[in-house]
Amino acid sequence: MLLNKKVIIVTGAGGGLGAGIARVCSREGAQVVVADIRGDAAQAIAESLPNPALALACDVGDDDEQGQLVTQTIARFGRIDGLVNNAGINFAKPFLDTTPAEWERIIRVDLRAVFFLSQKVCQQMLAQERPGGSIVNIASVHSQAALPGAGPYDAAKAGVVGMGKSLAVELASQGIRVNAISPGLLNTQIWQDIQDAAPSAEECLDYWRANIPIGRVIEAEEIGELAAFLLSERSGSITGANIFADGGMTAQLISKEPYASRPLAG
Ligand SMILES: NC(=O)c1ccc[n+]([C@@H]2O[C@H](COP(=O)([O-])OP(=O)(O)OC[C@H]3O[C@@H](n4cnc5c(N)ncnc54)[C@H](O)[C@@H]3O)[C@@H](O)[C@H]2O)c1
Repeated sequence: MLLNKKVIIVTGAGGGLGAGIARVCSREGAQVVVADIRGDAAQAIAESLPNPALALACDVGDDDEQGQLVTQTIARFGRIDGLVNNAGINFAKPFLDTTPAEWERIIRVDLRAVFFLSQKVCQQMLAQERPGGSIVNIASVHSQAALPGAGPYDAAKAGVVGMGKSLAVELASQGIRVNAISPGLLNTQIWQDIQDAAPSAEECLDYWRANIPIGRVIEAEEIGELAAFLLSERSGSITGANIFADGGMTAQLISKEPYASRPLAG
């Protein structure tokens, strides 16, 4: 097993991607701390995991609650080996209408919380017997390319990647690795919302098939497999990376040329 007895905190693990990451980590032998602003959802996921797990209600945007997350993890498991900063909130509103309060809400949860929760967890990782650990930050394809109306989200996700590189080089010599995963479109609530808003399921699928080279959305547990690898010793040489798990979405310039062009001779 990749993560035998490692203690791994996953934020936003009461549903969606975080729950998928928690499931894979638990299957791989980890003792998972399922943290979510929705305590009841965290409890339900923790109870469904194959290995002993701890559910904690935690708003990662609140500094005191971040501290309690670390304290309660230590009280139960005695150490922390990994942190997955997954909790995040989406945003879509035209730039010209976005308010300072909206900017601050997104940046607080999607960027600031990643920095300060990582800081608290790293202080613990360095103080414990066998110092070291692995941090995985869930960024997004938005760290590389943009959508109109997603300014605060795009800024936060690009910031998570840049900040992660800084932490990676600062902490490498102390045995802590920091990496980002940038998923493409996932089969979580957002995919349901997109389908519900589309005029027809078929039209919606056709559009997304053309925009995702592998021709499908990505399952939470597929990202969980990558996170488990990055949390394990098997990825010991990887730090400061941003790995795109997007089915080729950001590799593609346009889906296909709509007008036939003359073949280009060599
Ligand atoms: N869904 C996608 O297509 C997609 C693509 C790229 C990146 N991501 C990123 O993946 C992560 C998870 O996305 P998802 O689709 O599972 O979202 P989701 O909304 O389905 O789930 C997010 C979870 O985080 C929890 N949460 C929200 N605010 C929180 C807070 N302040 N403190 C603690 N928990 C909080 C929610 O209760 C929920 O359980 C996010 O960081 C998101 O930006 C998602």
